[in-house]
Amino acid sequence: MKILVTGGAGFIGSHLVDRLVAGGHDVRVFDNLDGPAHPESGIPRYLNKNAQFIKGDVRDYDGFKKALEGIDVVFHEAAAVGLAQSLYEIKRYVDVNIGGTANLLNILANEKNRVKKLVIPGSMSSYGEGGYRCGNCGDIRPSPRSEDLLRRGVWEIPCPHCAGSLSPRPVRETDALNGTFIYSCTKRSQEEMSLIFGNTYHVPVTVLRYFSAFGPRQSLSNPYTGVAVIFLSRIMNRHPPVIYEDGLQMRDYLSVHDIVSANIAALEDSRSDGQIFNVGSGRPVRILDIAGEIIRASKSDLRPQVLGQARKGDIRHCYADISHIKQRIGWEPKVSFEEGLRELLEWSRGQEAVDKFDHANDELRTRGLL
Ligand SMILES: NC(=O)c1ccc[n+]([C@@H]2O[C@H](COP(=O)([O-])OP(=O)(O)OC[C@H]3O[C@@H](n4cnc5c(N)ncnc54)[C@H](O)[C@@H]3O)[C@@H](O)[C@H]2O)c1
Ligand SMILES: [Zn+2]
Repeated sequence: MKILVTGGAGFIGSHLVDRLVAGGHDVRVFDNLDGPAHPESGIPRYLNKNAQFIKGDVRDYDGFKKALEGIDVVFHEAAAVGLAQSLYEIKRYVDVNIGGTANLLNILANEKNRVKKLVIPGSMSSYGEGGYRCGNCGDIRPSPRSEDLLRRGVWEIPCPHCAGSLSPRPVRETDALNGTFIYSCTKRSQEEMSLIFGNTYHVPVTVLRYFSAFGPRQSLSNPYTGVAVIFLSRIMNRHPPVIYEDGLQMRDYLSVHDIVSANIAALEDSRSDGQIFNVGSGRPVRILDIAGEIIRASKSDLRPQVLGQARKGDIRHCYADISHIKQRIGWEPKVSFEEGLRELLEWSRGQEAVDKFDHANDELRTRGLL
């Protein structure tokens, strides 16, 4: 099949391109080599030589139209990514993520094409605060924590009804989307627009809500990417990993290879059509433990610096219920957190890491976002 991967020169997109090429597909990449994913200029060396590369921007309607010529399947990975940045680069996030998707769907709705399937990456961040259970009140999706509680260093969320303690539970696809970043809101719009388009024009669309991905090719110089690589970049520069709150907040981390295999499963199994799937590990990990594992695996003597301070928009816990994708198309993650980390560390040895973390935080502080 002839497959277009927008954002195919990025972290997840490039691994997906490799798997598609290995699977015998004819792959085209459409990417503007933008932003933090591409600190070096030009096409990244890792980009698969057997894929066709078109440098272009999803905001450019005519360029996108050309890239879609002759295409059967689109994986729309191109996006402005990063949570905190989206709180002040609002127009760019909306233009690239919502505007880019609007271009894609508008072209498919109005121009002659043969696209038979769309796979759209959603994001864990669209859920906002995760799911919880209260012993007295049952299932709870609490509102974001108040600034007053955070100022007083109360990190865990009390039950909004009885003020009792809550225990985290995994989020399901049917849970409400209560995102706390502009980025979250753009990813949610991408999902909704694509599914509406698919229903209207009978084009199979699958939404894969990725949780936090990590692995080789993730930028070691991007202070807005996932915590695992931010910690690693700090350690490589002999700076301690910096941890917000108390470090006991939980996230869901999975290897980029598992994200890729979920995309392949969505492509190959038509029972994925019209579905939204969480793509996570289903196994919560504490931020402090991630720092500890990376320090240990890098044989470093640094100790995490726990700030006891919260960032704007940060949620306390969120991890995935992956039973829907397991049951419907049989996908499940195969790479353990420890294995994924080993691979990340091995890859990082040949890489340069520029630690821009403090600089990024200064930027947030001047904007009152920290
Ligand atoms: N990495 C994660 O943990 C994660 C989690 C949830 C969702 N996602 C989603 O997965 C997708 C891929 O993310 P990633 O982590 O590989 O990010 P990335 O930044 O490594 O890759 C994104 C790619 O898109 C390209 N791009 C950006 N703006 C563009 C534009 N205007 N036109 C054309 N190309 C453009 C970039 O050059 C880059 O190569 C995104 O849609 C992102 O929202 C990622
Ligand atoms: Zn209660």
